[in-house]
Amino acid sequence: MEGTMEVLLAVLVGFLGLCILFHLIFVRGKTCRNKTSLRGKTVLLTGGNTGIGKATALDLARRGARVVLACRSRDRGEAAVQDIRKESGNKEVVFMSLDLASLSSVRAFAEAFLRLEPRLDILINNAALIKDGASEDGFNVVFQVNHLAHFLLTHLLLDRLKQCAPSRVVVLSSDAHRSGRIDFQSIHLPVEGYLDAFKSYCNSKLVNIFHVRELANRLEGTDVTSYAVHPGAVHTEALRHSPSYLKPFIRGFTWLLFKNPENGAQTSIYCATQEGIEKLSGCYFEDCRQKDPKLNARDPMLAKKLWEFSEKLLGLAS
Ligand SMILES: NC(=O)c1ccc[n+]([C@@H]2O[C@H](COP(=O)([O-])OP(=O)(O)OC[C@H]3O[C@@H](n4cnc5c(N)ncnc54)[C@H](OP(=O)(O)O)[C@@H]3O)[C@@H](O)[C@H]2O)c1
Repeated sequence: MEGTMEVLLAVLVGFLGLCILFHLIFVRGKTCRNKTSLRGKTVLLTGGNTGIGKATALDLARRGARVVLACRSRDRGEAAVQDIRKESGNKEVVFMSLDLASLSSVRAFAEAFLRLEPRLDILINNAALIKDGASEDGFNVVFQVNHLAHFLLTHLLLDRLKQCAPSRVVVLSSDAHRSGRIDFQSIHLPVEGYLDAFKSYCNSKLVNIFHVRELANRLEGTDVTSYAVHPGAVHTEALRHSPSYLKPFIRGFTWLLFKNPENGAQTSIYCATQEGIEKLSGCYFEDCRQKDPKLNARDPMLAKKLWEFSEKLLGLAS
């Protein structure tokens, strides 16, 4: 009996050791190793109260930046501000209210930001969700939160980014863009059910890549550069709206196969801080290096068409 217990214990310890090794080699990913100081710079990050956004904000606060967390929940946003101030020792971390599911909230936010904040050096369009239904403005809520509202926010803050150049826009995309499709008849329309919400998510992450590409085109020569990021598969609250029957299954494998938020933040941090990547403006990054997105995500005509489509939906087209 004692012998059997010892064998079982040895198997368990061996299994755990293999899991840790597997995680370190295949899951954790690269670390952003630069020591770029952000003293005197201002970072604006959407959805920084949890997950990859919060881990990114903490790192940038440690580098001395003034960090504005633009979040939809005051309670969650202010709790994150307190955590980040405490962990980084940087008091220049503040909350501002922004609900990307409401375009009037985006406009009010931009107005307040431009009034209160003299600088904008790094804009990180991080917030996203996977959920069915419509936004306050009647659009597919995923399309609006993940793309359209960020498109508007970037547009409204562009002059401030130009004044503070060299400056950067970092947009969180995803490898899920590989399953994305662009159908101009339906991409902005609300859907029902989690499966269709997930398809909308993939579409929105493809649109993020086009946004970054066209932004880089239009900003050539301004010293404002833009980067799309795939953070890897990261254990966060991203799947919070998934059906309850899927949750135990998801929980079962994320601890082994997914990065923690700190590791998931590394490519965002890299694109926000790494010197010398300006010539790669418009590109897609994964694991702290440039990577090719899927073939049709590189189509410049589609990027231009999506830009004009977004402008038209927002009433920005002249
Ligand atoms: N996790 C992954 O495996 C993974 C993989 C590829 C790409 N990404 C991308 O990484 C980014 C961060 O994701 P995450 O995994 O950290 O997700 P998360 O834990 O779900 O965090 C998402 C953030 O977005 C905010 N948000 C959602 N709807 C909002 C709205 N209407 N207005 C303002 N903020 C809103 C959330 O605020 P509340 O807390 O108030 O809801 C939260 O702060 C996303 O762009 C995601 O697509 C993640």
